[in-house]
Amino acid sequence: MIRYNTSKQCHGTDCLIIPVFEGQKFKGSHFYGVTLDRSIEQLVEGDITGKKMEVCMMHATHSTVRKVLFVGFGKEKDLTLKRYKETIGTAVVYAQDRKNQKISIALPLEVMKKWDMKTLGKETAVAVEVASYAYDEHKTDEDARVLPITHVEYILDVKSGEKKKFELGLEVGRVVGQGINLARHLGNHPPSIMTPTYLAREARLHTKKLKALNVKILSKQDLEKMGMGLLLGVARGSAEEPKFIIIEYRGSQKPTEKPTVLVGKGVTYDSGGLSLKPRDFLIDMKYDMLGAAAVLSTMYVVATLKLKRNVVALIPAVENMPSGSAFRPDDILKALNGKTVEIKNTDAEGRLILADALCYAMKYNPKEVIDLATLTGGCMIAVGLERSGLFSSEKNMVESLLRSSEACGEQLWQLPLGEEFDEVNKSEIADIRNSAGTNADRFGQASIGASFLEFFTKDKKGNPLYPWAHIDLAGAIYSGKGKAWMRAGANGFGVQILVEYLDRKYIWE
Ligand code: BES
Ligand code: MN
Ligand code: ZN
Repeated sequence: MIRYNTSKQCHGTDCLIIPVFEGQKFKGSHFYGVTLDRSIEQLVEGDITGKKMEVCMMHATHSTVRKVLFVGFGKEKDLTLKRYKETIGTAVVYAQDRKNQKISIALPLEVMKKWDMKTLGKETAVAVEVASYAYDEHKTDEDARVLPITHVEYILDVKSGEKKKFELGLEVGRVVGQGINLARHLGNHPPSIMTPTYLAREARLHTKKLKALNVKILSKQDLEKMGMGLLLGVARGSAEEPKFIIIEYRGSQKPTEKPTVLVGKGVTYDSGGLSLKPRDFLIDMKYDMLGAAAVLSTMYVVATLKLKRNVVALIPAVENMPSGSAFRPDDILKALNGKTVEIKNTDAEGRLILADALCYAMKYNPKEVIDLATLTGGCMIAVGLERSGLFSSEKNMVESLLRSSEACGEQLWQLPLGEEFDEVNKSEIADIRNSAGTNADRFGQASIGASFLEFFTKDKKGNPLYPWAHIDLAGAIYSGKGKAWMRAGANGFGVQILVEYLDRKYIWE
């Protein structure tokens, strides 16, 4: 765990991070209690421009501060919360990559005018925690691994009341950041380790210290008894048994309060099954459980922060593989609610396992249901790699989720549901089909997937069983070398949106 403290001046550190705005004028050689070896005006012009994410490392003559790292915020008027976090993160990654383990971060006055001190503390801590995480445990060369950051000092010259608020925010942000990193860590495991059984064990492990959380794991036998035919169908091709993970949290004072149910897609590897994916499309399919990872991690945060809400997480966990026992295109499977599904493409497996979970959610008489799933490649085609798709006909939920998204900088974009998409899912021989199986489902693929899910949130007459929203987070990874502010792999999308949503919704309403 990184140790935090706050201070008015920098006393001693490996690296002092000073964020600067574009066009900002500097004078002298003294910053936050640190003296540089030259006055800043003497620097070669252009060394520090303040342009967004630009970094410039300098050495200080101060006895206890070795290096100063200037990092650019860009123009002051353009500084959003997202940019703020990315800038702080960029500086932390840069400093940590150069083996600095004790760092100080100066908070300029302008930033304190933009957000209240609690929000600022929270978001700063999230940025720091998220930036300091690396998935490098499989590197056997110790030198190739990132050194952990041991200590972060936050430098802010404010009255003690304001400082207290900032510190409160830091502690909340630390937990949120750890939750995001938990989701990333689960997602980054190789698929031969991260099986449904392993995911279930992790759910137990990360919740057992939190008393308000109750975990139940349903085995294959339990699922057979209950009739979760879709989850079982997808599982048939794999040597790994499916699991249905249930995490319940009671935080409300009113015992009768209806819970918010979160559903997370937990396909620990998606080969496509018999409708096998082409070579290049198999890569990164270990991440097909990021919905599950986000939901599990959200429960960890919600329980650690003791939110006064009732929340339930449902995670259908399964591996989608081809084999002699695998389910086939042309099969008909029966869902938990008795509805039949014609299989046209075994690669449209996420909607199947989620449908069973959406039926199971009825057990809780939910206030609302939100599912998170890496559901369609089409969602990435539609909104790119830096946003996730949001689908819902509940105005309130859409508005609150979009506000939560804005409040933390994880970007959501609303995409449509509609009868033109329902048409594609109509089957001649069963109640619904999981894909058109032809090119007909190429257009509006993300919406067609969402429409399939919607079918299971409605009764016979087509009325909603509960308010429901679906988030397609197919792009929740930073592939290649990652980003300057976040190293490569799963990016933990969804955790903070859900936490903000569960925490703040009632303040807005
Ligand atoms: N897990 C995939 C979706 C996906 C693809 C997520 C790429 C992230 C990156 C999902 O199970 C899937 O295979 N969807 C199909 C749907 C199609 C068969 C209707 C897809 O996206 O092609
Ligand atoms: Mn698939
Ligand atoms: Zn999938």
